[in-house]
Amino acid sequence: MEHDKNQPLPVILVTGARGQIGTELVAALRNVYGRKQVVATDLHDATTIPDQQRPYHQLNVLDKDELENLIITYGVTQIYHLAATLSAKGEEAPLKAWHLNMQSLLNILEVAKDHKLNKVFWPSSIAVFGPSTARKVSPQDALLDPQTVYGISKEAGEQWCAYYREHYGLDVRSLRYPGLISYSAPAGGGTTDYAVAIFHEALQNGSYQCYLNPDTALPMMYMNDAVRATLELMNAPAEALKERGAYNIGALSFTPAQLVTELQKHLPGFTISYNTDKRQAIANSWPAGVDDTEARQDWNWAPEYNLAAMTADMLQHLAPVYKSDSNAATVS
Ligand code: SER
Repeated sequence: MEHDKNQPLPVILVTGARGQIGTELVAALRNVYGRKQVVATDLHDATTIPDQQRPYHQLNVLDKDELENLIITYGVTQIYHLAATLSAKGEEAPLKAWHLNMQSLLNILEVAKDHKLNKVFWPSSIAVFGPSTARKVSPQDALLDPQTVYGISKEAGEQWCAYYREHYGLDVRSLRYPGLISYSAPAGGGTTDYAVAIFHEALQNGSYQCYLNPDTALPMMYMNDAVRATLELMNAPAEALKERGAYNIGALSFTPAQLVTELQKHLPGFTISYNTDKRQAIANSWPAGVDDTEARQDWNWAPEYNLAAMTADMLQHLAPVYKSDSNAATVS
């Protein structure tokens, strides 16, 4: 994607910039708009951040005053608010997860309203779905009955975004991300994390113990598609976006067993064992896939990576990282 030269350059603030999505989204945004246009923020100490990854600020997004200072200092026009606690980690300390996920979103929405920002992006998730959703393919307008505090925060967050849009005219846009698979930064605290960890373990040790059953199908997506979806949604004309809440976006739906079969095409010696934990119940409450007809219709969403392409690309990027490791499996 390229910046439309007839439009002024945005000044974008990203929270959770060093997380799994933020790491790649910041790079993609800087590619389009230029490095200095994107202010990265996260909890990490700013002194350790190299020059080519600046501007960067240490920010606890619960600190609304500091958030507001940054908006004013940089003349921020857009926010991508990614900081959150995910599904599995959230269950360990539900009230803490609720506080972080909800209060941070409310801080962002308030600041965006008060400073008349042009646009806000906030990710929702497949975690908004629950047992009453169609198991195979969840429709856009499914009844939402999330079973985790993370999912409840995403459902409530969708409603808050709609509220600010309707009452204050704030242009806030959202996607229900599936499980995201990427190689640049680790996944952190989600139920779908196995689909990232399995690549690292396969290359490092030649085996993996999976915490989900082999036949647990979940909606998944390669990060390249997720980042492109985000940029495309944010650049779509406002009048095209008819969805009041967050858009379903689909790409992949696979089980651990299907991912293993695909991995074994490259790593014939790779072995898997299964030992389920609490994350199995969370996965059981989510659908296997989502119906993304609305996203396809409204802003031409279409994924590019299937299971084979995603697996090959992950291995191509991660294999060199483990190459010097003597236990490492050989990619064929
Ligand atoms: N990947 C997330 C999780 O597993 C779902 O949005 O929590």
